[in-house]
Amino acid sequence: MINIFIHLFLLLAINFSFVYAEVLYIWSQVVPEGKLSIRAIIDDNVCPTAIVDGKETIMLKRCDEDNIEKVCELLVQKDVKEVRVNNVEIPILPKKINKIAFIGDTGCRINTLHQQECNSLENWPLKKNLDSIALHKPSLIIHVGDYHYRRTKCRDTQKCGSVHGYNAQTWHADWFEPTKDISQQSPFLFVRGNHEDCNRAHKGWFRYLDSYPFLSEKCENFVPGWFLDIGLMKFFVFDSSSGEDIFITKSDVDAFSKQFNKLTLSDSDKPVWFLTHRPLWRSPKKEFLTLKNHGNLSQIEAFGDDFPNNVAAIVSGHIHIAQILLMDNVPDQIIVGNGGALLHAQDQENIYHNIEFSYSNGKNYLARKIKNFFGFGFAILDLNDHKLIFYNQDNDEIYSAELTKDFKILAESDHHSR
Ligand SMILES: [Fe+2]
Repeated sequence: MINIFIHLFLLLAINFSFVYAEVLYIWSQVVPEGKLSIRAIIDDNVCPTAIVDGKETIMLKRCDEDNIEKVCELLVQKDVKEVRVNNVEIPILPKKINKIAFIGDTGCRINTLHQQECNSLENWPLKKNLDSIALHKPSLIIHVGDYHYRRTKCRDTQKCGSVHGYNAQTWHADWFEPTKDISQQSPFLFVRGNHEDCNRAHKGWFRYLDSYPFLSEKCENFVPGWFLDIGLMKFFVFDSSSGEDIFITKSDVDAFSKQFNKLTLSDSDKPVWFLTHRPLWRSPKKEFLTLKNHGNLSQIEAFGDDFPNNVAAIVSGHIHIAQILLMDNVPDQIIVGNGGALLHAQDQENIYHNIEFSYSNGKNYLARKIKNFFGFGFAILDLNDHKLIFYNQDNDEIYSAELTKDFKILAESDHHSR
């Protein structure tokens, strides 16, 4: 009899020690001031406890009290050695960063015009891209914006399910469910896309992915720019979610100039890659090339001619293709917008030479060469080999661009293309 009581007591004790907040999704992301933010979406009201370098630390809420869904956060120093939550090891930044993955425009596009097949791994291959990225074991994954794509109800639920609209279920389907595995391997850096602007999925953006502490669900049009220093180079994270591509307003341009100032005021001459969702210059569909004004006029007007010499490249998404524009007199433009959402502008040539961009504000730019890479995929920056390599969803190498020691694209690197 006594044995049965002891047995029951032990069973209860074991069960109590495993009473955890139910964590639905958990990930880590780099944020300003050299910090790493551990974030969790929980199915409970109590945030879990993290073990940070052996010390128990409670995660804090990162949402309004009236939110049914709770998000928790814990800020730690970037050089932390080990973080565990509910016995799961959370990815941290390694001391030496070797490879960085770039992906963009990832959700499953459903709107009145487009009905992407979200239930098909081939037709919405975000998970395939992520599984391929995982094979490279990147130290960091940079998402260049646009996560939320299921705006309206799908007309054929067998093809694209029933989840849609600005709610937690859509965020789970478009981003958190596909990234569940890779979130256990690499930390992220998130850039805000126009799908997360104040007219669209801003609530989810500020609750889940924004780089700054959560204040309220009031939408900010422009989140301040910030640097991530990874040793050999830096990234400047810029919020271009607002600001029209062709029509500009003085207030947008002023706001962009103000955010850009932070970059020009920095006295470091370390190479910088400028991360902005909307590309300043881009090659659209073939038949529209003659329009000559493709890109984002708000950013061009605000700072197109003001990039300091140490800005080696601009990395963007927004159009659903992979593209390199080798520019005259301004930084080269890289686009990695082929992460999963229905593709754009696939009817172009592989290469164009000497494409002029002329804008209504009187500014002109020349792309000496534009290279297009078709299909879904991602890119890997190899910091040891100084290469930027484009892959398709099946992890086949599509193109490898050699970089200078200052992380500029080497113009002659075309000789090495496949
Ligand atoms: Fe976009």
